[in-house]
Amino acid sequence: MSSQACDIVIFGALGDLAQRKLLPALYQLGRAGLLDANSRVFGVARDDTDTQGFTETSLNNLKRFVPANECQESDMAAFAERLQYVKVDFKQAEQYQALASALQDGHKERVFYYATAASLFGPMSENLHNAGCLNDSSRVVLEKPLGHDHESSNEINEYVARFFEERQIYRIDHYLGKETVQNLIALRFANPLFGNQWSCKNISHIEITVAEKVGIEGRWGYFDDAGQMRDMVQNHLLQLLCLTAMDPPLDLSANAIRNEKVKVLQALSPVVAFGPEREVVRGRYVDGMIDGKAVPGYLNEDGANPHSNTETFVAIKAKINNWRWAGVPFYLRTGKRMKQKLTEITVHFKPHQHFIFDERQRSTAHNRLTIRLQPEEGISLQILNKDQDLGRDNGLRAGSLRLDFANDFGRGRIPDAYERLLLEVCRDNQNLFVRRDEIEYAWKWVDQLQDQWAQDPTPPQPYPAGSWGPKGADLLTLKEGHCWHEDLL
Ligand code: BG6
Repeated sequence: MSSQACDIVIFGALGDLAQRKLLPALYQLGRAGLLDANSRVFGVARDDTDTQGFTETSLNNLKRFVPANECQESDMAAFAERLQYVKVDFKQAEQYQALASALQDGHKERVFYYATAASLFGPMSENLHNAGCLNDSSRVVLEKPLGHDHESSNEINEYVARFFEERQIYRIDHYLGKETVQNLIALRFANPLFGNQWSCKNISHIEITVAEKVGIEGRWGYFDDAGQMRDMVQNHLLQLLCLTAMDPPLDLSANAIRNEKVKVLQALSPVVAFGPEREVVRGRYVDGMIDGKAVPGYLNEDGANPHSNTETFVAIKAKINNWRWAGVPFYLRTGKRMKQKLTEITVHFKPHQHFIFDERQRSTAHNRLTIRLQPEEGISLQILNKDQDLGRDNGLRAGSLRLDFANDFGRGRIPDAYERLLLEVCRDNQNLFVRRDEIEYAWKWVDQLQDQWAQDPTPPQPYPAGSWGPKGADLLTLKEGHCWHEDLL
């Protein structure tokens, strides 16, 4: 279903996010016939340029970020027709008049996408309101990070809420736009085989890994202030945790899904940061090798502050205190400069209590479901079979049932997360966006851990770039008799 005609206004339109992700996503929606032919895209920034300059820059960047075989001249020309540039210094209220005039004869449906620092979200909303740019059908899209902790996030939410109702506010977590992340709902709730097993009765533990090969990519200033906990755990990992652990929603409506996610966040136990019961490990990469190339450690990156105490890796044993998940550890792990780019959820099912096969294989005889979210998207289920070797009477052999989305579903291209998200904003569907209470509970959980870390001057544990993280992360799982999935391969 295509979206209705709307005016999409991007603040920060010449910035990295807009040029690398948002404009290419809108271009792809146009190509696929999913963006109404009359929808217009307004780039707003304070740079001294005009529609022609903005269009040239955007088309040049499209050629950089969209594969060459998807850059047809006719599609590019049609996209260029949609673009307009309005120069606005976001802090200058009177400059919004130019935008108001540009929007005046346009569509009633308006999407304001804030691809800027979150500190501007409130003032921009106020200025848009005062300039008469907002109406009942306006929507606003807020990029992450939404604040630095619960208090600052609350202030931003409060400020924006003076001008937009919650039904008009779209908080982005781009992981929710990934097709494979949305598939978690289908996998869990459309397949009785999994739905019926999904609890502490049958599952021993779950791993969620979001590993990245990249470092901090020239974003030292931002990253050093945030750290991996705020940059990745507060949003992406917690969203994956919610979708993995939540109860079945009443239906697929935005609020039904969000209600269940919030219940998971409410049931999360505070994490113990120190002592024998410690449930978290902080790490920081040191010099190492990635793909055969030497890469500098975090403190040796350009612009680094040698006294920084910021983590680039976190592993947490999280616990969800409810009927479904009592006693099941959820191991969350994420880091920069790790061995491989990999986002994966591994569900370990409990073994049978009574084991009738070769006793030496008891410890390995259980099922494991691996959901590969990126790259090489797919699912594999480890199952046990009879070993067909004549010499091994009661032996078992593990093998995998595999589904590889790209090959098995015969689909060449999996859309980028921002395509899905922008499409849903234009359709006015909040399903894939984060409700205010979700973000608040997520921050509260993160804050209690950050507060404990703030008391501790010990530097994060070192791990070589190109590895799976510090030793402490292995100990975290070993303490429970578990190990990370890659150690089982
Ligand atoms: C962003 C973080 O939200 O997600 C980045 O700010 C991180 O630090 C990125 O690299 C990872 O996203 P993806 O889609 O490449 O897994």
